Amino acid sequence: MPRLVVVSNRVADPRKPAAGGLAVALGDALRESGGMWFGWSGIAADVRDGASDLPVRTQRHGGVTLATVDICRDDVQAYYFGYSNAVLWPVFHYRLDLADFDAGYADRYRRVNQLFARKLLPLLRPDDVIWVHDYHLIPLASELRALGSGHRIGFFLHIPLPPPLILAAIPEHDWLMRALFAYDLVGFQSQADLTHFESYMLQEARVDVAGDGLFLGFGRRLRAGAFPIGLDVREFQALAEGRDARETLATLREQYSRRQLLVGVDRLDYSKGLPQRLRAFRSLLLRYPENRNRATLIQVAAPSREGVGAYADLKAELEGLCGAINGDYGELDWMPVRYIHRTVARRRIPALYRASRVALVTPLRDGMNLVAKEFLAVQDPADPGVLVLSRFAGAAEQLRDAVLVNPYATQQTADAIQFALQMPLDERRRRHERLMAEIRQHDVHWWRRQFLDTLTQAG
Ligand code: G6P
Repeated sequence: MPRLVVVSNRVADPRKPAAGGLAVALGDALRESGGMWFGWSGIAADVRDGASDLPVRTQRHGGVTLATVDICRDDVQAYYFGYSNAVLWPVFHYRLDLADFDAGYADRYRRVNQLFARKLLPLLRPDDVIWVHDYHLIPLASELRALGSGHRIGFFLHIPLPPPLILAAIPEHDWLMRALFAYDLVGFQSQADLTHFESYMLQEARVDVAGDGLFLGFGRRLRAGAFPIGLDVREFQALAEGRDARETLATLREQYSRRQLLVGVDRLDYSKGLPQRLRAFRSLLLRYPENRNRATLIQVAAPSREGVGAYADLKAELEGLCGAINGDYGELDWMPVRYIHRTVARRRIPALYRASRVALVTPLRDGMNLVAKEFLAVQDPADPGVLVLSRFAGAAEQLRDAVLVNPYATQQTADAIQFALQMPLDERRRRHERLMAEIRQHDVHWWRRQFLDTLTQAG
């Protein structure tokens, strides 16, 4: 079995519960092959443009090597906050209005990818299989190839790929899409993303679309496919059985015994549709007064990428909305919205899901959204809660038995939430059973195997 090398912007220690299901699943694959995980340490080094001299730190745990490198402060600004999160992230989530095209971030983004390639190459063995993750590292394979790498290299995009005319707004779109041809396999979250990739290649690039996911261009042969990421269902269910989760569940049940809980758990990100969700909740209270003094929305919005301006604007908007709803509808003994702008420990989250009758997963655009799958995984099958899911989340392609909504349509979303709150037990059970079958069949281990099997056979 060839050794697996995973490369991503963030590196997680797969042994820690905070790392999440993806890290655990990749950790399994890494352990099986005695592999390596390479990425940014998360440290912005206080040096001036001295990034190339920064050492790679390695630690070895249970047969897996974690290798991390610092990046100098200016590079973090341009590569991470700049090009990755103020250009690629907004555009790939269809938000051209939020993209900062003029700041000249692209060169530094490329330089950091070159730096990663230079640091990674000496650590590689000739028969390693390399799996690169996400939009921070699109040109990594082409930089590795420029240094002579002949490895088998796959890329998985965790976020959506927009239609060609949106992608084409990025001044460097030709370069970015061409860089994907240095990979042997490119994976997307959904069929919609794959269709956009095909359309781009037909409309914007001189690439031969050979069908069946095969693309011939720039002197290379590339395979592309949809590999919807799944959940480590058992790992998450086990988390729900842990002491912290059980204690939190008991507390929530006691505190909210006379209420119906609705839950949202997101990073504070404009792609998540949080203001739209709050407006829909306000509309629910307005149009269906029986929910007043009864329905409580717990919204966790974990701080994220606070160095990017658009995130600060969103924080202010959300605080205003929560304050207004609580001010207009709150009672002495009931507040409609509990807004938590902090990271809640992952080991407590299953309790929050289990205590809730309805989950609101209503992004304006999302690659997949694993919160939807996590919520389903920890429901009581005998009395399950209901998932209200945006049709614009990648997960909507798989989770057809959720209550699907258009989050831009405030009143329709409010109606859908009311429908979810009132859904009879037998229908809740029926839907939950079908949804569980889906997330069990296509779990994170299935995803990892599908991708790696296709990668090792590609060519
Ligand atoms: C999304 C991206 C990931 C990223 C995560 C957290 O899920 O697809 O690549 O790691 O957000 O964002 P952050 O900027 O904190 O890494």
